[in-house]
Amino acid sequence: MKKALFLMLVLVLVASALPVVAQDGMPAIDCLTDETATVVVSVGSVGKDIEFGQRAADEFMAACPNITVQIYSLPESATDILGYYLQQFEAQSSEIDVFQFDVIWPGILAEHMLNMYDYISEDALADYFPAIVENNTVDGNLTGIPWFNDAPMLYYRTDLLDEYGVEVPQTWEELAVAAQTIQDGERAKGNADFWGYVWQGNAYEGLTCDGLEWIYTEAGSTIVDREGNITVNNAAVAHALDRAATWVGTISPEGVTSYQEEDSRAVWQAGNAAFMRNWPYAYSLGQGEDSAVAGIFNVALLPTGAADLRAATQGGWQLGVSKYSQNPTAAAAVAIYFSSPYVQKYRSLEGSYLPTAMSLYSDADLLDANPYYAELFPVLSNTVTRPSTVTGVLYNQVSTAFFTAAHSVLVGDQDGATAMELLELDLQDILGQ
Ligand code: GLC
Repeated sequence: MKKALFLMLVLVLVASALPVVAQDGMPAIDCLTDETATVVVSVGSVGKDIEFGQRAADEFMAACPNITVQIYSLPESATDILGYYLQQFEAQSSEIDVFQFDVIWPGILAEHMLNMYDYISEDALADYFPAIVENNTVDGNLTGIPWFNDAPMLYYRTDLLDEYGVEVPQTWEELAVAAQTIQDGERAKGNADFWGYVWQGNAYEGLTCDGLEWIYTEAGSTIVDREGNITVNNAAVAHALDRAATWVGTISPEGVTSYQEEDSRAVWQAGNAAFMRNWPYAYSLGQGEDSAVAGIFNVALLPTGAADLRAATQGGWQLGVSKYSQNPTAAAAVAIYFSSPYVQKYRSLEGSYLPTAMSLYSDADLLDANPYYAELFPVLSNTVTRPSTVTGVLYNQVSTAFFTAAHSVLVGDQDGATAMELLELDLQDILGQ
């Protein structure tokens, strides 16, 4: 592992030292200003985030030599990223110019972001999914340009499903049975590290996503509905959480209650899990040369529960410019280039990040290279959104209360019914009801 990390670092360094040659189809880049500027862009640190960020930075600098672009690498957890951003904004810091931010944060970040409608042309913006543009628009201001879309999938091992005669599970119960069957079989062969199902059980935003899928499919609950009603205190929601708690230590490692996306991917990619819940970025990485599961997995829609609803939490990230940036125009040029269809296309081809530019969904290269796009259609048709629009600036408190309560059930501190009764009171407090 260490060797692989080291090699990756060397590759990144070598790649970033090579001169950037304009590639086929590379658009003319609009620098928006002739002034000399340094622009710091924050990017995630999951999968190939940094490698791709550096590549776009190099391309941009080759076209706009007056602008130096530096990549700032963020923590892995969305919750930690938000905490860091809020500190930066509180201090009105100009350290970071371009912020990569989560689809659930426009309401929280709006007051600190410039209006991207002032920088991006109407023509360019017309290619982005209107629903995401609308999600990112607060009081008429575009807080960020949609950068990539996200929706989780059930990853499964095709070889093991064949070997054990197991169908792709359609319900959470079927998933538990299938995971147990395969786990028992693989353990009996001597692989003590093998697990049936890996997912994200740490107390952070990721658990709000996993938990939302359990309670939506079981009870049709989205924590808080579109009218602002709290919908957690009922038997079906409690059952969905209690059921997930039974997975811990049986079909999922005890440690899953501290897992984030990359922890699950590590177990999965080493060939030690039958099923995984994860976002599309794990698809390309799973097919990579250093992956033990390359060529032996596929993806499907996550299972359903008693409500007979399907769910894939709507995720995704935007690029916006901070009000405290000292070089807002140069920063806007960088945000526009990073989120351009050209950059989105190679991030999708090589990193399986889902585009937010509509034109790319009929791009022949992408359709050829990503056969799993066919499996994605049902996933993207069943997205469920977290209650970020209705709760606005309060969303993070709502989500934190939810994932803290869900986590307490997973680790066995309380049962689902008690946790949800208390959560309802907490949420009433937060929302002033
Ligand atoms: C992914 C999603 C994001 C979500 C996060 C949770 O990055 O795109 O929306 O909040 O996972 O871990």
